[in-house]
Amino acid sequence: MCGIVGYVGARQATPALLGALRKLEYRGYDSAGIAVLSGGGLVVEKAKGMLQVLEDRIAGREISGCLGIGHTRWATHGEPSDVNAHPQTNTSGTIAVVHNGIVENHQRLKEWLQSQGVVFRTRTDTETIAHLINYYYRGNIFDAVLKTLHKLEGAYALCVISSDFPDRLIAAKKENPLVLGFGRGENFVASDVPALLEHTREVYYMDEGEIAAVYGDHVDVFTGRGERIIPRVQHVDWDVDAAEKGGYEHFMLKEMHEQPRAIADTVKPRIIDAPGGGRDIFFEELPGTDFWKDASRVVIAACGTAWHAGVVARYAFERFARIPTEAETASEYRYKNPILDSRTVFIVVSQSGETADTLAAVRLAKSRGARVMAITNVVGSTLSREADVRIYTRAGPEIAVASTKAFTTQLVCLYLLALKAGFVRGALSPEDYQKGIAELLAVPDKAAEILARKGVIQKEAALQFNKNKVFFIGRLFDYAAGLESALKLKEISYTHSEAFAAGELKHGPIALVDDRTLVIALATQRALFDKIASNIAQVSSRGAVTLAITQDTSGYFDQAADQVFVIPQVDDAFSPLLSVIPAQLFAYYCAIQKGNNPDRPRNLAKSVTVE
Ligand code: G6P
Repeated sequence: MCGIVGYVGARQATPALLGALRKLEYRGYDSAGIAVLSGGGLVVEKAKGMLQVLEDRIAGREISGCLGIGHTRWATHGEPSDVNAHPQTNTSGTIAVVHNGIVENHQRLKEWLQSQGVVFRTRTDTETIAHLINYYYRGNIFDAVLKTLHKLEGAYALCVISSDFPDRLIAAKKENPLVLGFGRGENFVASDVPALLEHTREVYYMDEGEIAAVYGDHVDVFTGRGERIIPRVQHVDWDVDAAEKGGYEHFMLKEMHEQPRAIADTVKPRIIDAPGGGRDIFFEELPGTDFWKDASRVVIAACGTAWHAGVVARYAFERFARIPTEAETASEYRYKNPILDSRTVFIVVSQSGETADTLAAVRLAKSRGARVMAITNVVGSTLSREADVRIYTRAGPEIAVASTKAFTTQLVCLYLLALKAGFVRGALSPEDYQKGIAELLAVPDKAAEILARKGVIQKEAALQFNKNKVFFIGRLFDYAAGLESALKLKEISYTHSEAFAAGELKHGPIALVDDRTLVIALATQRALFDKIASNIAQVSSRGAVTLAITQDTSGYFDQAADQVFVIPQVDDAFSPLLSVIPAQLFAYYCAIQKGNNPDRPRNLAKSVTVE
């Protein structure tokens, strides 16, 4: 949550900060602010609302200065407001701080500062940091920040400037991400790489506990104990365009359309020619595969969409590898007293690699001796560093809050693992292993074929977007795909939508069905066509409008459902990779019909770094 940026160099800081903040609005957008050192003093401008409100407020005014920090906020302490927006300052306004994270002991620190005579203006935890830095300041801003950090409990990524030091900003990181960007005669700090790409591709992902003094012509990085380190600068080779909308109306639409490419990029490099003929699955990130032979169980922990990928994978691991598999929401798992042993394969899935609950589950599992395998989209994320092994989805940056390409690339990673595990364990015949690989390699073209028919879904959304509830029904893999489909719809169209295991309808949910209900039946598993057709009949007879998403081409569902959308032929076990795409499109077009911004749904944030 929250995006932070910093600039020091020879250019005007204000436009550089605002441009960088634009790229971080996905991290929070309930208020924004900047602080720029101008004419010897700090000028702070803050506004409740999206970044545009701040831009409008300062338009036409010259805030000249070459050192500054900025912030886009998702409130945790103190409601979104001008005063609670960051930067926060000390009483005299000589020190300004932007912060991402939560200072867990801020109440105690605040009371102590108040006992020292400090008057607080806001309810934010961040204001505590500004006053503490002021308290420790004895003419050296770096030392004051370092001393302050030692008092803070919880997570932070921080950027600090002081009017006494016009040549530097101080950046520090614990548990929340922070990246340094290296330019020519100018340097940057940001929560994420897209904010830097306009200016530089040379970056350093700060490590846990590190603190940096960032000047226009050089950067000094230290460990939390004050030992200097040489930052390992990495070159980012994403296109600048990859972090922008690229001609699509919304990031979400663009990201849905990127799925064929993202899936191919994630699968193809992991498929190699097998020495004895045929193909094999090979993850260079995995040290051998013998652990699959000993595995007694797989536990998958994740949140939101990533958890749904885990639910699909549960069926895939059990089907292909015959390993008992559980998929747990990390927010629940972290409070369990989990039963783990050395034969449990513990897999964590997270697009951002920064989700607080997911990281807590990782730490718990590690403390119980489990080896953690992470599937994440963000190289250098906290999860990627804390896991024992990591597998990267190659989706590229995902900006829209509602996850699409991250989900399908997580799925293909999990399918690759399940197939490999099945083959290594002898649960999957060589023929079925080859068939599985071929299925995955064929997904990108099939996904593209569905996207090319998006107009059909758009028309359906125009007819149905006003339904007051939408239920997704299906069994096994279809049920798992339904969970993700229902989440997409509620996230961005704000329609009450739920997924039900189709056989459970009669045990309660059917009481909710009436003529204002749309039921979307996911019917992709051939052996279960008759069962799901009966369920469609049951809800139709209670007034629901019905839509079937199926791979049946015989017309079987034409009689049962009001509308039918046929996806390309695919082995039943892989169908969620395709059936979720019309559901993503449906959610998107319903949101558009309702006038919602699908990229920035209300009350949600892309990266949830608080509990
Ligand atoms: C938030 C996002 C979801 C995402 C979930 C987990 O709730 O809005 O789209 O699925 O966090 O995020 P992660 O980065 O761990 O996959």
